[in-house]
Amino acid sequence: MFNKRTKIKDLLAQEPTGQEVIVMGWVRTFRNNQFVALNDGSTNTNLQVVLTLGAFDEATLKRITTSAALKVTGTVIPSQGKGQKLELKADTLDILGDSDAEAYPLQPKKHSLEFLREIAHLRFRTNTFGSVFRIRHSLAFAIHKFFNDRGFLYLHTPIITASDAEGAGEMFRVTTLPFDGTPRNEDGSINFKDDFFGRATNLTVSGQLEGELGATAFGDIYTFGPTFRAENSNTTRHLAEFWMIEPEMAFYDLEDNMNLAEAFIKYIIGYVMEKNREDVEFLAARLAEEEKSLPADKRSEIGLIEKLEFVLNNNFERITYTEAIDILLQSPAYKKKKFQYEVKWGVDMQSEHERYLVEKHFKKPVIVTNYPAAIKSFYMRLNDDGKTVAAMDILAPGIGEIVGGSQREERLDVLTARMQQLGVPADELWWYLDTRRFGTVPHAGFGLGFERMVQFVTGMGNIRDVIAFPRTPKSAEF
Ligand code: 4AD
Ligand code: MG
Repeated sequence: MFNKRTKIKDLLAQEPTGQEVIVMGWVRTFRNNQFVALNDGSTNTNLQVVLTLGAFDEATLKRITTSAALKVTGTVIPSQGKGQKLELKADTLDILGDSDAEAYPLQPKKHSLEFLREIAHLRFRTNTFGSVFRIRHSLAFAIHKFFNDRGFLYLHTPIITASDAEGAGEMFRVTTLPFDGTPRNEDGSINFKDDFFGRATNLTVSGQLEGELGATAFGDIYTFGPTFRAENSNTTRHLAEFWMIEPEMAFYDLEDNMNLAEAFIKYIIGYVMEKNREDVEFLAARLAEEEKSLPADKRSEIGLIEKLEFVLNNNFERITYTEAIDILLQSPAYKKKKFQYEVKWGVDMQSEHERYLVEKHFKKPVIVTNYPAAIKSFYMRLNDDGKTVAAMDILAPGIGEIVGGSQREERLDVLTARMQQLGVPADELWWYLDTRRFGTVPHAGFGLGFERMVQFVTGMGNIRDVIAFPRTPKSAEF
């Protein structure tokens, strides 16, 4: 029977009283034919397994190589060595799986993150990725807990849809039509009637529209699932496949929406700081070490833990888009022509502008509201000024936009006028518009990019290092 094992994390929390335990894991190092550092993924701290000299035959010892899988039965005793409270004196040892040390690509030394991306199938076995993925797991769990505790319903919105929720046209097509001899209509266009769903379909870019259907029945819902964007952005913040959390609430205005988003972000950070302290500390030290090689002006002013504590203990700054543009126009960076992209009312802020606001000007997360209608999606509520919408983006230090949301346009006539203006097909979204026909209510919601949140909490600079198997332009290995 296998499931009698004690996890190393749990074992390390016990007192060594000569108890008998079974542990299983993978060898990190083996020295002096005597000391095995064993890791089972429950923590970065290895268990020291001590083999009594002469108690195990030569052939077995030879098979204890880096990443070999072991089952060890032994006695837990106080450690003689420094650095650990206890160790396991091995009584029996089984090699569950050999590992050819010559061929194994992960040597017990420092590897670059770029190299580890090429062996993403093995990188979970490093301390850095161990910490990142345990934190990612915890964040996901905290997200469900936050919403569940507040009576939100977890709605599973579809992955395959026939609509473009953002109206931005960045969709991956889903089809079973043949590439050769694609059926055509008389005018030469593709005849999707013969396609699997009898119409053109794509992978979802957002669950929001379906989320609004849920909110206008259940009150408060959230989605948490994969979303897909065929945008050709090769940056450290963009993935073609990423996970998004999208709460949608009936009877909410923009301010309610901001309050929820801020409380939500603080809650999930607080949860990880409490439950994953060891992993956060490990990553904070890793980041501090990594930054030593940067020029002084590129280093963070504060460490990862201080940054997270600061976010927990301070209110987010709240400003309008108009105020943000004014700050940028007044900034020394603007006056010294440090910005690459244009700053003026009406244009979308670029990452350099967002980062100036959060990292240089306010030095804290900032919620920017009331953007020009022309640069935001069709579903956002038009303000009384007729030119801005009740949008909100949350910008985080080191990341830029982490949340995008808005109060929704609940007035059917205003919504359909906006759709027409922006060329969003009202006939295809008849079901969405029905919410505005039958008991429409003020409502609001937002989307948190899960990987950007994981980046923020782990301090990892590249989004490819916080998702197990990143999908980016020209890359879908593993
Ligand atoms: O701002 P976005 O496009 O908003 C929506 O999709 C809305 N439907 C959300 C809503 O109101 N329910 O995306 C939301 C967030 C962004 O703020 C960003 O954090 C993340 O999703 N995001 C990405 N993350 C990784 N890779 C990409 N290509 C991303 N695009 C957006
Ligand atoms: Mg956005």
